[in-house]
Amino acid sequence: MERKKRIGILTGGGDCPGLNAAIRAMTKTAIQEGYEVIGIRNGWKGFIDDENEVLDRIKTSGIIDRGGTILGTSRFSPFQTENGRQQVFDGFEQLGLEALVVLGGEGTLAVTSKLFKMGLPAIGIPKTIDNDVKGTDFTIGFQTAVQIATDALDRLRSTAESHHRVMLLEVMGRHAGWIATYAGMANGADAILIPEIPLDEEKLEEFCQMLTRRNKKGINFTIVVVAEGTKLEGKTRERRSSGVPGNEKAPGLGGIASVIGEIIEQKTGLETRVSSLGYVQRGGTPVAYDRSLATAFGVKSVRLIEEKRYGEMTALKGNRITSVPLELVADGIKTVNLNIYKVAEIFFG
Ligand code: F6P
Repeated sequence: MERKKRIGILTGGGDCPGLNAAIRAMTKTAIQEGYEVIGIRNGWKGFIDDENEVLDRIKTSGIIDRGGTILGTSRFSPFQTENGRQQVFDGFEQLGLEALVVLGGEGTLAVTSKLFKMGLPAIGIPKTIDNDVKGTDFTIGFQTAVQIATDALDRLRSTAESHHRVMLLEVMGRHAGWIATYAGMANGADAILIPEIPLDEEKLEEFCQMLTRRNKKGINFTIVVVAEGTKLEGKTRERRSSGVPGNEKAPGLGGIASVIGEIIEQKTGLETRVSSLGYVQRGGTPVAYDRSLATAFGVKSVRLIEEKRYGEMTALKGNRITSVPLELVADGIKTVNLNIYKVAEIFFG
């Protein structure tokens, strides 16, 4: 009997809601088209540790609404170790794979692009709550994070109004303030601070004056959304090293909202409180939009493999599911569209 053609799938980088929906869609579509699907465990690390499993219809049933990834993930990059790349190629061959589908953010997909150039037949699927992957309007996970952040901001409004306070909510977004912008817009926030618009001395002064003006006008509460990557006087706030050997350039961010909160109290005398959403915004049930996007991307990844269009990444352009060269991702991150920010800005102050 002729052996079935095999394709692999892995999830790399931070987890996000919608990964399981994509794994399900890719696996079920591939099985329908006559492939066998191998799940590589814990991102690229699964090739190094030889950890993998056959994925079937049963394993991928009932997971469309589950957060995280059934495959596990890691921030390990095969370029971090001397033999990493070779181990990926060896593992790929030993498993008898024809192609590999990689669900990743900008970092994981840039690695995929490099490996593709070295001969690995790979397809990318963009996922990250940060929505900072070039070539696609939205990434899997983003809309869920925006919903969670919006719900949190709506709740913070209660205490802000009741206690007449300035409330700051720090949300994720290392290099780009997509979550902050969309959640802030949906909540009607009074200010949104993002990495794309650094807070230099002048901007900080203007910001504090705005808070004082509001107070003088008799508006005695303020909601501010702060992306974790916001730069204050040219610097981001690092809370720990990346924890990933070879990736020291990507330290964990967090705490910038607390620093800004203290400055607000000092400069304006307004009572200020800070909350940080942290990993809550990355976990749990994906919203319907992310499930649908993940499903469409999962199906598209199999179509790309059938057409042998390796080196491509599934993408959303307007309302069309399409694909773009993976290379595009390696070309830096997608920062916030400032026209969208300007819409939110109309309601500031
Ligand atoms: O997945 C991207 C992201 O959510 C960033 O916004 C954040 O800085 C980072 O992950 C933190 O991830 P971890 O602590 O899991 O490395």
